[in-house]
Amino acid sequence: MPATEPPPVSRRPAVVVMSDLVVLARQTRLIEEIVSRNLVPLVLVGPDTPMDRLRVHMADPAHPLSLLTEVIRVPDAAVDTVLCAVQDWVREYEVKGSVCCGEVFVDPAGALGELLRLPGPGGWASRVCRDKVMQRTALNAFGPRWRAVAPAERSRAEPPCYPAVVKPAGRMYSSGVCRVDDAGQLRAALGQFGPEESVLLEELVEGPEFSVEALVHDGDVLWSGITAKRTNEDGGRFFTEMGHICPAPGLTAAEEAALTSANAGVLTKIGLRDGITHAEFRLSRGTAVLMEVAARLPGDAITALWHLATGAPMEPAIIDLALGVKTRYPQPTRRAAQRYADHESGVLGEVHSTLEGTGVSWIKRDGLWPATEVADADAPPRCTAVLVARESGDFLGAQVDSGARSVSVVGDAPLSADLDALGREWVSAVRVGYRTASR
Ligand SMILES: Nc1ncnc2c1ncn2[C@@H]1O[C@H](COP(=O)(O)OP(=O)(O)O)[C@@H](O)[C@H]1O
Ligand SMILES: [Mg+2]
Repeated sequence: MPATEPPPVSRRPAVVVMSDLVVLARQTRLIEEIVSRNLVPLVLVGPDTPMDRLRVHMADPAHPLSLLTEVIRVPDAAVDTVLCAVQDWVREYEVKGSVCCGEVFVDPAGALGELLRLPGPGGWASRVCRDKVMQRTALNAFGPRWRAVAPAERSRAEPPCYPAVVKPAGRMYSSGVCRVDDAGQLRAALGQFGPEESVLLEELVEGPEFSVEALVHDGDVLWSGITAKRTNEDGGRFFTEMGHICPAPGLTAAEEAALTSANAGVLTKIGLRDGITHAEFRLSRGTAVLMEVAARLPGDAITALWHLATGAPMEPAIIDLALGVKTRYPQPTRRAAQRYADHESGVLGEVHSTLEGTGVSWIKRDGLWPATEVADADAPPRCTAVLVARESGDFLGAQVDSGARSVSVVGDAPLSADLDALGREWVSAVRVGYRTASR
């Protein structure tokens, strides 16, 4: 290619990434991918990001976030707030894409993309995905029986049946989601929500749970993969995600088809155009029943698990789609898993692992996940990472939602291996230490 003059700094091509530090730490490869294409990453973070810490990482030349030059922090993720915050970027850069890396930013990232006529999920699909009542309304045929309850109606609320699931409409991380078996439990659960929260009351769908990640271009699903989800629902009334296995083991061809075709139907119905999506389903007597669909990257280690399973990072495909480029992603040749540890109540101290060659990564403190190194398809099982998502001194309590979790292991193995058993083995080699609370 002939050398060309760089375009004037004032209109350099750029990609907006909306995220918080905890997700940036996991997806540093997205930033590297943007920079490698001679695009400027414009990163917008929310109130959950401690700017002092982010600035320390940006100032450390050894840290991948040192690639960031443009960061804005917004006090909330409302569409208006975000649009006001990015106005100078929109004037000074030629914004080519808008990538959402966090549930709170789904709506503003979609709106910005729509307003600038960028490739992406689309403003409407993003808005529907961010609101559980809108989702159930638009996707009624894909879900369980449900009723939506506005705050003023709460005292008269009745679920379609018992057992039921109570769920606030605008949250994430399984926060506030719980099973109720009778009217007494229902009233107690409803009393926990804020005065402005609308709530869904749903039929409890029985059956194993999965997520379907999809890469979508111009409304076509180019690739989809099924991940088995493990929750702690057997131990109580909550549904905290405690593990993921990519690809999901033990599915029949008919079950795989039920999940992938339901997912494609959901995406078509909401008119999702481009990007990576993450939808959650339960398989109930062979039918895929929608829990929810997200117009963003999957959470936890799922992108890293697909990387380990296929040998290819997902970030290049995600950036392709954000730029409207038809992309490719391979099929898995290995199986990968993340499993969270149970923990006791107490103040987190040291974390030790007796797994040879696998150090403990304090991902919140360091703002960085360990790099993913892939293995040959038939290489023996191995634990690749021990991740601590909290900090020494944090209080660990009951794991009632994703934010309450602490330590997890990640690893991979040949497709024939039992990743549930391996996950248990890896997790049992990790010791979570506690210290005396300071007064
Ligand atoms: N109707 C339901 N039946 C059975 N389980 C449900 C139902 N709704 C939610 N859950 C469980 O609760 C979890 C969290 O609910 P979800 O709708 O995904 O909200 P969040 O945005 O908090 O992840 C789901 O992954 C699933 O395990
Ligand atoms: Mg969910």
